[in-house]
Amino acid sequence: MTDFIRVALPKGRLGEKVYTMFDKAGYPCPELMEDNRKLVLENAEKGIRYFWVKPSDVAVYVQRGAADLGVAGSDVLVENAPDVYELLDLKVGICQMVVAAPVTWEDTGIRALRVACKYPRIAARYFEEKGRDIDIIMLNGSVEIAPLLGLSDVIVDIVETGKTLKENGLHVVENILPISARLIAGKTSYQFRHERILEMCASLKAVVEGQT
Ligand code: PRP
Repeated sequence: MTDFIRVALPKGRLGEKVYTMFDKAGYPCPELMEDNRKLVLENAEKGIRYFWVKPSDVAVYVQRGAADLGVAGSDVLVENAPDVYELLDLKVGICQMVVAAPVTWEDTGIRALRVACKYPRIAARYFEEKGRDIDIIMLNGSVEIAPLLGLSDVIVDIVETGKTLKENGLHVVENILPISARLIAGKTSYQFRHERILEMCASLKAVVEGQT
């Protein structure tokens, strides 16, 4: 019976980039890039099984041992602080966590700042350090729309190209933290399968070094 290393990959744009890195590192599974709706795919010869999961759920699978390894954005890792090991910065999915606001907005400092975001802990910590009172408005996406509709004063969100901000009349007020994709491992998996995990990590590191 094949002893599979189970890898949770984030579905979507980032996942495809990341899979290419695993492929280059010697862990191909061409079916992953085919036009199908399969969520679990494997390459028995290489002893690898991939799962496509929602990016924000990767660390849940890894922490609970349903996957040995996973790739998660450092935004999710900082926000949720899962109990996993962070093994490698893959240096893809690079973006910034920022405070953004309408170009005409100025902080009068009078009342609690209404902050719309998908990352309430990161936002709370950031403004607490600045000593600014805030009222967090938790959203699950399209956060840029909140100040346009008067729901919030500012947003805390991720900026990659800056296109979404620009096209919605917003701009970066402050940078909070740089973000990139990280290889993570479950603590139990790392303990019992560390040889194979470290071998994969070394191969991926070589791919990362080759791409920079
Ligand atoms: C992310 C992020 C911004 C956008 C930034 O959203 O939350 O909205 O990408 O990218 P840009 O700077 O290149 O324009 P995502 O696509 O994940 O969708 P969401 O708004 O539903 O969260």
